Amino acid sequence: MGEMLKVAMPKGRIYKQAFKLFREAGISIPEETDDSRRLMISFPEAGMEFILAKPVDVPTYVEYGVADLGVVGKDVLMEENRDVYELLDLGIARCRMSVIASPEWKPVLNPRVATKYPNVASAYFREKGQQVEIIKLNGSIELAPLIGLGDRIVDMVETGQTLRENGLVEQEEIFQITSRLIANRVSYRMKNAEIQKLCDMLQQSIVIES
Ligand code: PRP
Repeated sequence: MGEMLKVAMPKGRIYKQAFKLFREAGISIPEETDDSRRLMISFPEAGMEFILAKPVDVPTYVEYGVADLGVVGKDVLMEENRDVYELLDLGIARCRMSVIASPEWKPVLNPRVATKYPNVASAYFREKGQQVEIIKLNGSIELAPLIGLGDRIVDMVETGQTLRENGLVEQEEIFQITSRLIANRVSYRMKNAEIQKLCDMLQQSIVIES
């Protein structure tokens, strides 16, 4: 048996889908138990240990090598800009990053954009040659334009329900999001056989829609 692989898994909305994908790929992890608050779970049979991290921290664990691998959304990868390898598009948790505003939006003199993704938003408006002030928030981003904290937002859209229920519209899509498998650079060399085997197994059950 090869070396144990430490995998940083995102707690929350991606976790269930990632867990399911690993099982479908034939990796011997038991049926998911939802009642547990444990943050480290080891699956000796699969040669794997899961570290349950806050999604935004997954690339950090992987860059520092405390996890060999990680499952993380493209949104977080783009925002965090960590020194890691992106190995696979897992095709799960599909959504998009968009610019959002009220349908009555008109260009304003001192535009402000509220977002959980300040790096993504700055890069986008810089590329467009538009000067905007970025306001960092940590959640409930759709509130911002409703109460006048910024005239637009940059946020994730999945079903569009949050937009509809708050009377907002998508102005422009910035990029498509799916979850990715990432690797620590040293682990990728030192545990290459194990990592390659996992990638091959996962690849069998990945469904990529265009
Ligand atoms: C995310 C995102 C949107 C919503 C999009 O928020 O920020 O608000 O989901 O999903 P929808 O298009 O299916 O409505 P999340 O639920 O993660 O909560 P947050 O307010 O803490 O960002």
